[in-house]
Amino acid sequence: MSSASSPPLDAALAQTVIELEGEFLLQNYSRYPLVVRRGKGCYVYDADGKRYLDLIAGIGVNALGHAHPRILSVIREQAGLLIHCSNLYYHEYQGPLAKRLAQISGLQRSFFCNSGTEAMEGALKMIRAHGGKISPEKHHIVSLDNSFHGRTLGALSVTGQEKYRRDFEPLLAGVRFIPPNDLAALEQAVSDHTAGIVLEWIQGEGGIYPLHVDYVRKARELAHRYNALLVFDEIQCGVGRPGRYFAYHLAEPVILPDIMVAAKPLACGLPLGVIVANEKAAAAIGPGMHGSTFGGGALACRVALEFLDILEGLLPSIYRLGGDFRMQLSELTRHHGFIKEVRGFGLMIGVELDLPGKQIVQDAMAEGLLINCTHETVLRFLPPYIITEQEIDRAVKLLAKLFKHVKYPPA
Ligand SMILES: Cc1ncc(COP(=O)(O)O)c(C=O)c1O
Repeated sequence: MSSASSPPLDAALAQTVIELEGEFLLQNYSRYPLVVRRGKGCYVYDADGKRYLDLIAGIGVNALGHAHPRILSVIREQAGLLIHCSNLYYHEYQGPLAKRLAQISGLQRSFFCNSGTEAMEGALKMIRAHGGKISPEKHHIVSLDNSFHGRTLGALSVTGQEKYRRDFEPLLAGVRFIPPNDLAALEQAVSDHTAGIVLEWIQGEGGIYPLHVDYVRKARELAHRYNALLVFDEIQCGVGRPGRYFAYHLAEPVILPDIMVAAKPLACGLPLGVIVANEKAAAAIGPGMHGSTFGGGALACRVALEFLDILEGLLPSIYRLGGDFRMQLSELTRHHGFIKEVRGFGLMIGVELDLPGKQIVQDAMAEGLLINCTHETVLRFLPPYIITEQEIDRAVKLLAKLFKHVKYPPA
């Protein structure tokens, strides 16, 4: 399974990689004992050349799988021309990418950064600046229980999960958490003091929970009524993953936010995040108020343009294959009492179990299938958008085999 350009590391060398990290890296990640050496299409290969069907795709980043020929080709060409020139100067690709994002999002102005959390930080600054222009009291933010918006202090402040927040308190003041899909709580939480409302259309880290359309519509209406900015976090659920450009396109008619943040798949593995805002929200930020040294480099932006070109043709199959995948997974619930629910849209799918999912993830890995588990009990699938019916069938067959060995109810 190895190629001439990347001979397999042997197991001893893989062990050295793991030990070195143990000695010299912050011990913040609990990694699986897998050294990924290379990838092609929907597969990655480990140090011994063993092949894995990759249905987590860098946690939703590798949208076109690995080593996609068109992405490789623009990376190779652009790397030889210009990788980065800072935001002191113009390059050819930020403008066209911002224009493309405006066309597909229905919003107007972009700011480029490097990650999801950085995009969220910028959106929070826009909320604060918008509120501050109206009144010093207008700085409250409404966010949802069970949400996840990133690891930096601002993003953590609007993340509604205690386990991510507790070691870093006190965080930003004025954030109010309410239960998702509770219309009365939403109505009650938003007031003249609210400067922003932050929502994930489909909560990702929280366990693949979609919001109800009428709930989001109410958030839109309240944001209008109280002159607050409505922010959709599309970092995990957007940019093609639901079979639409953005998850908010799933509603008919579309409910537009004031600000949308995206990142993960945008540059197919190169770090690129974006804030896209309407004119009203964009007016909150004037010269000198925000910036990012690496944000929107030529290489990342050119790759994103190429990706969006390819994505247009993939959207229908993402929607169709995702539906097929969910249906096949739902079939498994008939045979296994420990599967509580299958949720999601397009190729963002969660299978909620009545037991911890970690062991299943490990067993799947041993069988050559990469998935992960979020919120302890939800198996999460974020496959590349180029996945085929055959690969989905293969994954479902493998899971069916693994599920047969699950002891339920636990002894
Ligand atoms: C919905 C959502 N928002 C924000 C983030 C943070 O993105 P990043 O890890 O790129 O900072 C994530 C990451 O998983 C996410 O899923």
